[in-house]
Amino acid sequence: MPERPIINAIEHACWAPNHRLTEPWHFYLLGKKTREKTIQLITDIKTTGKSENFRISTQKRLDAIPGWFVLTSENSTDRIIKKENYAACCCAAQNLMLYLWGEGIGVKWTTGDVTRDDRFYKLLKINKHQSTVVGLFWYGYPLQVPAQKRKAFKEITTTLE
Ligand SMILES: Cc1cc2nc3c(=O)[nH]c(=O)nc-3n(C[C@H](O)[C@H](O)[C@H](O)COP(=O)(O)O)c2cc1C
Repeated sequence: MPERPIINAIEHACWAPNHRLTEPWHFYLLGKKTREKTIQLITDIKTTGKSENFRISTQKRLDAIPGWFVLTSENSTDRIIKKENYAACCCAAQNLMLYLWGEGIGVKWTTGDVTRDDRFYKLLKINKHQSTVVGLFWYGYPLQVPAQKRKAFKEITTTLE
């Protein structure tokens, strides 16, 4: 995957609204070696005790994903600051995803078990007392764009007098 759109996207991400300007985000771009280790870890988590065929198909599906990055949010001993940091990181993630989509690159935000696994924190050298993984994001140029649905405006909106 080209690096330039990702750099631009991260620069856009940082303009997310952010109470107290804590700038709580950190982005980890996964190079080949870390990506391979991550795929191995996810495969282990998902397929231990399952069939060999399932292991092979899981690994194959992960191997096909071109781009990988992880976003973390800074922790805080203050419960509200921690929550608002996470909220700001979610806004940053959306900025980033919208930017990339504008470049024709689709992104999937994932929060599977690996994102809470100590081995993943260790692999990425993330101190879990300092930061929390907000998501593992996969990106790439889509071969096809799935049809998606959302509830209608009226279903999700209440107009008060
Ligand atoms: C916080 C968060 C966590 C998510 N985790 C997962 C996940 O682990 N697995 C998954 O298939 N989709 C996950 N999604 C949803 C997808 O990223 C995506 O938004 C969803 O499939 C709907 O697609 P669309 O946004 O293109 O309509 C998550 C979304 C958010 C916001």
